[in-house]
Amino acid sequence: MPSPLLLPYDGPHLKLRNRIAMAPMTRGRADDATGVPHPLTAQYYAQRAGAGLIVTEGIWPDVLGKGGPGIPGLVTDEQVAGWRAVTDAVHAAGGTVFAQLWHVGRMSHPLILPGGATPVAPSPVRIEGERIHTNQGCVDHVTPRAMTTAEAEATVAAFAAEARNAVRAGFDGVEVHGANGYLIQQFLAENTNRRIDKFGGSRTGRLRFALDVVEAVAAEIGPERVGLRISPHNPENEIAETDPEGTYRALVDALDPLGLAYLHIIERGAYGALADLRPRWSGTLIGNFNGPDPTSQRAGEQVLAVGLADVFSFGRLFISNPDLPARFAAGAPLTPHVPELVYGGGAEGYVDYPALAPQH
Ligand SMILES: Cc1cc2nc3c(=O)[nH]c(=O)nc-3n(C[C@H](O)[C@H](O)[C@H](O)COP(=O)(O)O)c2cc1C
Repeated sequence: MPSPLLLPYDGPHLKLRNRIAMAPMTRGRADDATGVPHPLTAQYYAQRAGAGLIVTEGIWPDVLGKGGPGIPGLVTDEQVAGWRAVTDAVHAAGGTVFAQLWHVGRMSHPLILPGGATPVAPSPVRIEGERIHTNQGCVDHVTPRAMTTAEAEATVAAFAAEARNAVRAGFDGVEVHGANGYLIQQFLAENTNRRIDKFGGSRTGRLRFALDVVEAVAAEIGPERVGLRISPHNPENEIAETDPEGTYRALVDALDPLGLAYLHIIERGAYGALADLRPRWSGTLIGNFNGPDPTSQRAGEQVLAVGLADVFSFGRLFISNPDLPARFAAGAPLTPHVPELVYGGGAEGYVDYPALAPQH
């Protein structure tokens, strides 16, 4: 029996060469001043084009959504041109690539933002227990500034504009980053959304920003080119969701009729989100686990075998195994990644992990 990960996928809006996705991973190598991707980024993703689907690292729709040094944008013509080189290289290698649209909200810092700007968020709730990496080392978080209603609406529009730029840059689609405690999840979660305008105050209010973003992006480029990533009950970045079932069932029920490209669920913590949400989602579902160690081939296979997802995404294994699907197929050994070389820098730890030698 071949691994279910290696079977082609023929979904409603996605046709993939296998059921292995490369999960979005920030690598911090863009030009920090311009937000243009590093010239080696095209080679990096082309090396990984054997994945059925590549989701890029998170890319900001507005510079206030930038969460660290060397994070790329997709706003200026120069940034669009930089990403065009990436999509051309992935397509030449036969791959499919979606851009991840990522606004970090409160997970930024005046040392990261232009002009020393204060980060924006649904409400002025500061990260207390963690520090943030900047060009001047790790520092305490500041209290974010609450977005006005007009600013939240403008940010929805910025996501839609970024999606338009993604299509201009040649991407096959976009993934809205609604996970891991960044801006969209800050609107969804009870502890970070204390608003009393239309973007808060009740479950319906907390869901509104996520729904408005996805709907605006879908209206801009077509729902069949839009995925959404969520991480229900993920405590990362000091998110505390008191009713994940209620929040995410309502979110999924509202989005299912749109006919999106996919829903990408990171399962972590006590809430079995894949099992709970799978029956409510009629489209393509991508699963992901985010544990202390890189998720194994076997874990992904089990999820597909029991029907909890159609495609499974792997992150860390792709950093150091550019030809991961071929290694899964061959049962070949996997190379561990070097943690010190994950973020920033150039070629080392980025494009110099070799593929398996060809078999004769
Ligand atoms: C270096 C690194 C950077 C990441 N950056 C992002 C990101 O930009 N967007 C995102 O949604 N998830 C990001 N993640 C989370 C991964 O997409 C994935 O959920 C996680 O690595 C778990 O999958 P794995 O066990 O296969 O590594 C990142 C993970 C790592 C290790």
